[in-house]
This record gives sequence, C-alpha cells and structure tokens, in this order.
Amino acid sequence: MKNINPSKTVAWSKLAELKEKTGKRHIKSFFDEKDRFSQFSIRFEDLLVDFSKNRLDKETLKILLGLANETETKEAIESMFTGKVINGTEGRSVLHTALRNRSGDPVYVNGEDVMPEINKVLSQMKTFADKISNGTWLGYTGKPITSLVNIGIGGSDLGPVMVTEALKPYQNPNLDIHFVSNVDGTHIAEVLKNVNPETTLFFIASKTFTTQETMTNAHTARSWFLDYAKEEKAVARHFVALSTNEKGVTEFGIDPQNMFAFWDWVGGRYSLWSAIGLPIACAIGFDNFEKLLEGAHSMDRHFREEDFSRNIPVILALIGIWNTNFLGAGSEAILPYDQYLHRFAAYFQQGNMESNGKYIDRSGQKVEYTTGPIIWGEPGTNGQHAFYQLIHQGTHLIPCDFIAPAISHNPIGDHHVKLLSNFFAQTEALMNGKNLDEVTAEMIKAGKSKADIEKIAAHRVFEGNRPTNSILVKKITPYTLGQLIAMYEHKIFVQGVIWNIYSFDQWGVELGKVLANAILPELQDDVFVSSHDSSTNGLINSFKEMRK
Ligand code: F6P
Repeated sequence: MKNINPSKTVAWSKLAELKEKTGKRHIKSFFDEKDRFSQFSIRFEDLLVDFSKNRLDKETLKILLGLANETETKEAIESMFTGKVINGTEGRSVLHTALRNRSGDPVYVNGEDVMPEINKVLSQMKTFADKISNGTWLGYTGKPITSLVNIGIGGSDLGPVMVTEALKPYQNPNLDIHFVSNVDGTHIAEVLKNVNPETTLFFIASKTFTTQETMTNAHTARSWFLDYAKEEKAVARHFVALSTNEKGVTEFGIDPQNMFAFWDWVGGRYSLWSAIGLPIACAIGFDNFEKLLEGAHSMDRHFREEDFSRNIPVILALIGIWNTNFLGAGSEAILPYDQYLHRFAAYFQQGNMESNGKYIDRSGQKVEYTTGPIIWGEPGTNGQHAFYQLIHQGTHLIPCDFIAPAISHNPIGDHHVKLLSNFFAQTEALMNGKNLDEVTAEMIKAGKSKADIEKIAAHRVFEGNRPTNSILVKKITPYTLGQLIAMYEHKIFVQGVIWNIYSFDQWGVELGKVLANAILPELQDDVFVSSHDSSTNGLINSFKEMRK
C-alpha cells in the first residue's frame, strides 16, 4: 500500500476551501439544480442509493473523486482483490472477496491459487449444512439436531447474528439458533436453559481459538454437555469448530474432521463469508448462503469495475470523508427501516470502528486529521422516539444512512406503507427543517397567543440541513443482503486507503486483554491488592470486600 498523506494532496486543500462555500450552503439550495436526484443517486440491480441530500455539489464531488485518485484508491482496490499484502502490520493479504468469488477466476496468495481450498471448505460446509437441514445429522441418542448454538465473539459472532436475524424469513422452521458471546456466565446460562443436549449442536467459532471469552464458554458448554452425555465420544456429534487454528481445535478435543477451516487472510470482522458462516448456512440452508455470497460478489464486481463517479462504495466513502473531515461530523448513524436488520448497525460498529479507529498512519506517524467515525444506530421507527431529537435539533452534525426495503416479508395491513412514510419523511425533515416564519404561521393558525408564540416558537424551529443517504432495496433477500454488507465493507476500505491507515489490524484491543489476564489471578483470592494505581487498586479491593 502506498503511503500518501491525504491532507497534503491538492484535492484536500481545495476541499478545505470548499468547506467555506459548499459546506456552508443549505442542502435545500442544491435542489435548485435540475435533476438533482438523478445526478446524485445510483441504481445498481435492486439497490438505489440516493446521496442527493448532502451538502454536496458537482464541483465538490469532482474534487472528492480527485482525492480518491490522488491517494491511488484504484490501485489499492486492485491490490486487495489480487491478494497483495495490504495488511502491512500483520504481513497479510486481505481476501474476504475471494471467499465469495463466483467468477471461476483464480486468486493468488504468494503465487498459490487459494480458490481450490476455498471451494473445498465450501463443499464441506454444504455437505454438513445439508445434513443439518434435512435432519440426517444425528445427536448421540439418534435424534436430529434442532438447536444451533454459536459460541464466538466479535467477528466470530456479530456477522452470524446479524445475518441470521436479517434473513429470519429464510430460516429452517425445524431449527432454532442461539448465540453466546459474552464471558458473563449469564449469557451461556440463559441459552443452556433453553436447549436439549440430545439435539443441540455447538459451533465453536474463533479465528485464533485462543479468545478468552469463547474458550471459557466453549469449556462450559462441553462440561454441560458431558454431564448429560457422559461419554467423550458423543462430543463429535455435537461440537464443531470454525477456526484457522487446527492445533488449538485438536487440543480442545474437537476432531479435526469436525473442523471447518479458514485462513489468516480473512479478517475476523470480514469472516462471515468463510467457515464462520456455517451456522448461517445451517439456519437458512446452503443455497441461500450461496446467494448471500453471490450478492456480495456482484457488489465486489461493481466496486472493482465501475467508474468511481458511479461507484456506490466509493461515493459513500467520499461523502463520509467530506462530512467527517470537512464538515466536522464525528459519528454516523445507520438506521434500517426493517426490523430484521436490527443488528445491522451493531455489525458495522465493529466493521467500521475496529477497521478505521486508528490514529497512526501508514508511515507510522500520528495523523493530523480525523479518521473513522463513531458508528451507531437502531431500526426505525423505534429510533425516532428515542434519539432522533438530537439528530434534528442537537448541536452535533450526524450524517445518517437510512435503509429500507420496498417489499416487506410481512405485508400486514398498512404497516409497511406507514413504516416507509416515516422513512421518506425523516430525510425530508432532516434536510428541510422548519423556519421561524413557518412555525409562527402554524402557531397563529392554531390560535396561539402572541406571548405563547414568542416563548415557544424558537424551540419549534428546525434548522434542517442534516445530511442523509437513502438506500432503498427491493427486498431483503440473501442476495441483496450480501450486496449491502459488501457495499459497507468497501466503503470502509476506501476510507482507510484515503486516511492512509491500516484498516485490517486491531492492535488497540490488545492492551485491555493483556491487563485482564494480569488482573485475573489477583481476583482469585481475598488478598489486598496494591500493584496498580490507586483507582484500580481501590476498585479491586472494594470488589473483594463486596463479594464477601
Ligand atoms: O478482540 C478483537 C478480536 O480480535 C476481533 O477482531 C475478532 O473478531 C474477535 O476478537 C474474536 O476473535 P477470534 O475469532 O479469534 O476468537
């Protein structure tokens, strides 16, 4: 990967100037241009991305595209797709795109085509998922599996959770699926209350097979299971491993035949397309899992082949940079108007924040500009009655992505048009706002006194001018969900390239893990602790006192 400081580019300086001009304009004013919608929206298959409600004109967009060129984004995209070692701090390729490569073309890592290995694991996953789906994989007492329990955390949890929730309408009705991630014993205890050891299959999902939370939960699940099954050999019918670490899997006591492998060039937060997706394939059937891969692959091709001016992930990334680095936004909300997508924002919280939450650039220097934003969100319309107040009238600028399907899986009465009327209304309100004249006229019409109007009117004014993207999808299917996920993955990639950071490591999460390991033995007895700062000592000693 090249080391180009974006803030030293010509485009960056021009954007800094434009922020005083374009950035100060009200979004409404851009709609004086003819065909604003058709020029600032992109249709790709069953997706429509409307980015017209941003503080953005053609000139600014052109310079943003220039920023992508000056930072050699096209070359970086090719480097990723062709297996170059772009994860510089870990010395790895980044090839989640190969996992969903449906083209039949080879993909090389260190001169070796990785596609045969990928296809081998996919076929192992198919055989296994088919047996679970048709009830021919039997538990130790001869009964078919009815409960799936995924034990994993971070990327080994959030993807399978998000996708199985998003695709619930496709779920096999004979199976229920559960997820255990937290090391808090409550999580596994509550799941184990609801499953039967004779008919439960545990997926131990961990890229490294060393993660404390996952290993602790896996051992607890194994002991619970053996309390019933008694015989060690029964474990093989009820535990499978999804990992890159064959040694760790064998040491845990899972037969390598029950291991589904992936590789170090798959980042944890990009791993749902790999063996980590096995619980998804079991829950929704392997054919649907393949459609998810196909959807992602179609977005990969769009991303790799389409001109940047019509390239959805590139445009979304550039708008994000404009909002973050020039208009001062510190966070972005992802707001799906689809209850099945209720974990979508949480998924991309990891995807985005673990990837681009970095302050050291690719030259090893501290950046002098803002990098990854805080990502958050909840489904609409719930969020409207919780936090939208701050988006509309707070002091923070919060660009929002609104996502909605045109067709609901549950077309009950007028629910869906009511939902969508809110979806359209919110972006309109966030853009237009309501000025003092409009508020005053409304209040006069409602018969309010002059005193009342003077007291209240200012509070009812909305400035508007809040940027939004609207992403309309025909229906949430495995294929379109694959497209949506890949779209955001590539947006994150482009931003990491431009911000000149390494998006595929996560050193920042290590320190807490190391310190927790150091503290753990100190919590095993009641001895007074004095090895830390006074706050940490005080907390630990109070904990020891309180637990008595
Ligand atoms: O702590 C962060 C992290 O390393 C994530 O990047 C990863 O997705 C998660 O932990 C789980 O790791 P593993 O799959 O190795 O158990």
